[in-house]
Amino acid sequence: MLGDVDGETAAKLGAELNPEALTVALDELRVRKTPYEVACLRKANARAFAGHLAAREAFDAGAAELDIQLAYLAASRQRESAVPYQNIIGVNRHAGVLHYQHYDLHPVQWHYSLLVDAGHRYRGYCADITRTWAGREASELFEQLIEGVTRLQRRLIDSLAPGHSYLALHERMHRELGELLAGHGIVRCSADAAVAQGITRAFCPHGLGHLLGLQVHDVAGRRLADGSSLPAPADHPALRLTRELEAGMVLTIEPGCYVIPMLLAPLRDAEAGRDIVWETVESLAPHGGIRIEDNVVITPDGHDNLTPKS
Ligand code: GLY
Ligand code: MN
Ligand code: MN
Repeated sequence: MLGDVDGETAAKLGAELNPEALTVALDELRVRKTPYEVACLRKANARAFAGHLAAREAFDAGAAELDIQLAYLAASRQRESAVPYQNIIGVNRHAGVLHYQHYDLHPVQWHYSLLVDAGHRYRGYCADITRTWAGREASELFEQLIEGVTRLQRRLIDSLAPGHSYLALHERMHRELGELLAGHGIVRCSADAAVAQGITRAFCPHGLGHLLGLQVHDVAGRRLADGSSLPAPADHPALRLTRELEAGMVLTIEPGCYVIPMLLAPLRDAEAGRDIVWETVESLAPHGGIRIEDNVVITPDGHDNLTPKS
């Protein structure tokens, strides 16, 4: 019985605990999903998506965050202890708190936005979907930005195929986010200048996405097939997937655009701050932020989006 064997005991028995070559090989087997695994992930997506539609309806009907969460659980047919990660249900400014983990008990007076990042687990396999909705008091600009981030996300998904560098896609997200900010008068510099000055990173501090499977952030995203390390570059430390895309990989594509005061404040006094239209940023702040996240399998000649269309 090896249930509780520690490294020292294993060594006395002449064994090695979790030998690296074995764990690397096992992880590598998990990187490319079988058709059965893809079917499980698709099913998890369908169930999660039913929850997202119910969450939106509850928000439109004026529900508090806790009630939106309960509507999500009911429609996706799962108890809270079964979710693959704690659902993020952020209304208004809370939509800009990246790992918001509270559920307000009381409805808000003004409805600017709802961000729901919530999944489902089917036979162990996880869905990880995010949608952002404009509330009835949302500004026109915020609605346009939701549309812009959604289009950006679809363009990135449309280009997915084996052989592409995920890091290059992440960099493309930043460039296109820069274009979105410039196009809507949130910055007064070019998209390239917004990226170079770190402005797009303040508006979207997380990576474009990650591998998905039995774990929400699945294994081996930052190494090569032989186990050697493939770290994220210094200027994008949050990126969880640096590998080249291969058929069978399932991953998320989740661009975002947020007003996070803690990240924007340091730019105010920096040179980059002169390129930011602060009045417009402040008008967006009550809406918190936007993230749109789908789950996609890479196929031999392209990709297949496992998340139902909204
Ligand atoms: N829900 C966790 C993530 O999007 O990575
Ligand atoms: Mn994700
Ligand atoms: Mn997510």
